Amino acid sequence: MTRGFWDTLSYPIIGLAPMDGVTDATFRALTARYGHPSITFTEFTAAEGIRAGAERLLEDFLYCEEERPVLGQIFGADPDAFFIASAVVSALGFNGIDINMGCPAKSVAQRGAGASLILDPERATEIIRKTKAGNKAWAEGSSLQQLGVPENLIPLIEARRNALGITSRQLLPVSVKTRIGYDSVTVEDWVQHLLEETPANITLHGRTLKQLYTGFADWDAISRAAKIIHSTGTSVLGNGDVKNKEDALEHCTTYGVDGVLIGRAAFGNPWIFTDHTPTEKERLEVALEHATYFAKTAGEKNFVRMRKHLLDYTRSFDGAKELRSRLMRVSNLAEVESIIRSHIDNHLIL
Ligand SMILES: Cc1cc2nc3c(=O)[nH]c(=O)nc-3n(C[C@H](O)[C@H](O)[C@H](O)COP(=O)(O)O)c2cc1C
Repeated sequence: MTRGFWDTLSYPIIGLAPMDGVTDATFRALTARYGHPSITFTEFTAAEGIRAGAERLLEDFLYCEEERPVLGQIFGADPDAFFIASAVVSALGFNGIDINMGCPAKSVAQRGAGASLILDPERATEIIRKTKAGNKAWAEGSSLQQLGVPENLIPLIEARRNALGITSRQLLPVSVKTRIGYDSVTVEDWVQHLLEETPANITLHGRTLKQLYTGFADWDAISRAAKIIHSTGTSVLGNGDVKNKEDALEHCTTYGVDGVLIGRAAFGNPWIFTDHTPTEKERLEVALEHATYFAKTAGEKNFVRMRKHLLDYTRSFDGAKELRSRLMRVSNLAEVESIIRSHIDNHLIL
């Protein structure tokens, strides 16, 4: 088993969970700068889309050095597509490759990907094997052409490697992020099956596919699975409803996991991985920094997507209804800057 960075981390791990539409490269850069989570993941990216040569998907694989260790997360249903996507993730200099077997969205699960793989363990096995094989072939010197990477993606990948100064090829740890069952809790059988393929790590979100995000994460189920996983060389992270750093450390001790991933509680709160409680002014300044970076990377035409983050940064403020409603209507960076500066000047006692 290749464990790579998993063996050099300090434990317990408190990492940032991947969240499609939220934890893009900008969000992760800010979180890395102010929160220093142990690990970060890209949003899940379609292996079949990479195989089809979808250039825009390479944006999902942007990351910054401060984030490391950073894992490229891929999803899909066709094992052969994972071979190619794994080679791409490897060539782009990620520290690890994570396979999504937990997404419950109909658009994903009905295609046989994400959490529906819990019902198709043989396909899950094949996906892990092909992911490892794609990375191994790359590490041993095959070219992107030889590995079947679409011609149009190759110059873009080469350019990214040059810009990042990546010259080496490495065997990378392959991990799985999944749920505790499909429509009932079957986590013991499921992890036993996954362990046959010796993933470096398994992350368990303590809900079934059927539960989506309702109810509470079942940490007792995670704990039972952790015992099984710990009888092997694979590590295990728990995930679901963790509120802050203290809660994260408590979950590690109580449920016997090697660490946790924090998802929704990190919205607008990069400090969640630290002991620091920011002032309102700090929150606003980082919101502005996030908006500035977002405008630079995603472009002002996509700026409406920034509104959600601005709301998240100001959610904890008392009596800031007007501020929030103004931020909800912004369409460019200049507007955010003016609203935030005037709020700091007129409403905050410094
Ligand atoms: C908006 C959203 C998008 C998500 N996208 C992904 C994803 O791309 N990959 C993944 O493995 N999990 C994804 N998840 C699941 C989270 O990583 C995490 O497992 C889940 O939110 C439970 O953790 P939490 O209670 O700390 O939020 C997503 C969750 C949310 C809310």
